[in-house]
Amino acid sequence: MNSKISKVGVVGAGRVGAAVASALVMMGVCVSVVLYNRTLDKAEGEAWDIEDAIPLLEECNILPTDKYEDFADCDVIVITLGAPTKDGQSRLELLKDNADIISSTIKELDRVAPNAILIIISNPVDILTRIAIKTSTRPENLIIGSGTVLDTARVRYQLGKLLNVSKQDANIYVIGEHGNTSLIVWSNAQIGAIPLEKFPLPQDISLDKIKAEYVDNTRKRAYTISERKGGTSYGISTVAAQLVDTVLRDEKKVFTVSVKANAEYKIGEQVVLGLPCIIGKKGIERKLHIPLSQEEQRALEHSAEELNKAYESVM
Ligand SMILES: NC(=O)c1ccc[n+]([C@@H]2O[C@H](COP(=O)([O-])OP(=O)(O)OC[C@H]3O[C@@H](n4cnc5c(N)ncnc54)[C@H](O)[C@@H]3O)[C@@H](O)[C@H]2O)c1
Repeated sequence: MNSKISKVGVVGAGRVGAAVASALVMMGVCVSVVLYNRTLDKAEGEAWDIEDAIPLLEECNILPTDKYEDFADCDVIVITLGAPTKDGQSRLELLKDNADIISSTIKELDRVAPNAILIIISNPVDILTRIAIKTSTRPENLIIGSGTVLDTARVRYQLGKLLNVSKQDANIYVIGEHGNTSLIVWSNAQIGAIPLEKFPLPQDISLDKIKAEYVDNTRKRAYTISERKGGTSYGISTVAAQLVDTVLRDEKKVFTVSVKANAEYKIGEQVVLGLPCIIGKKGIERKLHIPLSQEEQRALEHSAEELNKAYESVM
């Protein structure tokens, strides 16, 4: 694939979908973006607003649409549809609504773009990715959930800032559910190539204190942002654009995306959750195994159990 001739689809022109389309254009990831919404007006409004930036950026074409057929020939398609929470609705009822939305969307995409790589953003992302894998006719490696990529970026940012090193050198992963049972893999954290446990910390801060604070901050981050502005969009749209870019450039970067767990994790091979994988032009090219401490292993098992329960409640 070549980013200079690539066509990328975005399903949903809500807060996240519009931000993903904008990030793709701003970052010069591809030459053509198709922005779909079930109401054409919304797709047109967002697309035309983004289009106004194109004369100031690299050449790109953005097509608003309400027809799935326009996704034909897309190399990658990002799915951002999500039902709004209704008054008094439980998480499970919302999950059921989104499970129905994702199943019907996947069927449409299988019809019009059976070979495209799909990137799923809609929440709960791990469960919806599992449903997409079950529903779709395309091979599993072509279906990527955004998993804990954003959670990982959040921890790297905090740690880099605290230790005064580049965030790219804060080598640490968040894995498991994108949600309340996510876990930070402290036992393998490194700053550059130095184990975090051996890295000098600022005075008056212990590693235990950092661990306790970061777990909470990472899990609550989306809520603390949403409380103030009604949802999140910039972080996740950059994650989506980076994943698309990595596929189109066949970069083989490692991201903690939602995938079916491999046997080495000993949590069953059906559960889908955030784990480190190599991403390239074939989608998920390799699932990696990150060694875990006993405590982390237990936390991953708990995350898998919760996700299995939620999946079984709707399937
Ligand atoms: N994975 C992550 O880290 C992450 C981060 C932020 C948001 N999200 C998720 O992204 C999704 C979208 O969030 P948003 O803020 O853009 O929401 P939004 O309400 O702004 O947009 C929702 C989109 O879904 C469409 N939609 C809703 N119900 C539909 C239906 N029944 N059929 C077809 N289309 C339908 C709407 O038309 C709109 O395009 C949500 O599920 C949200 O939880 C995920």
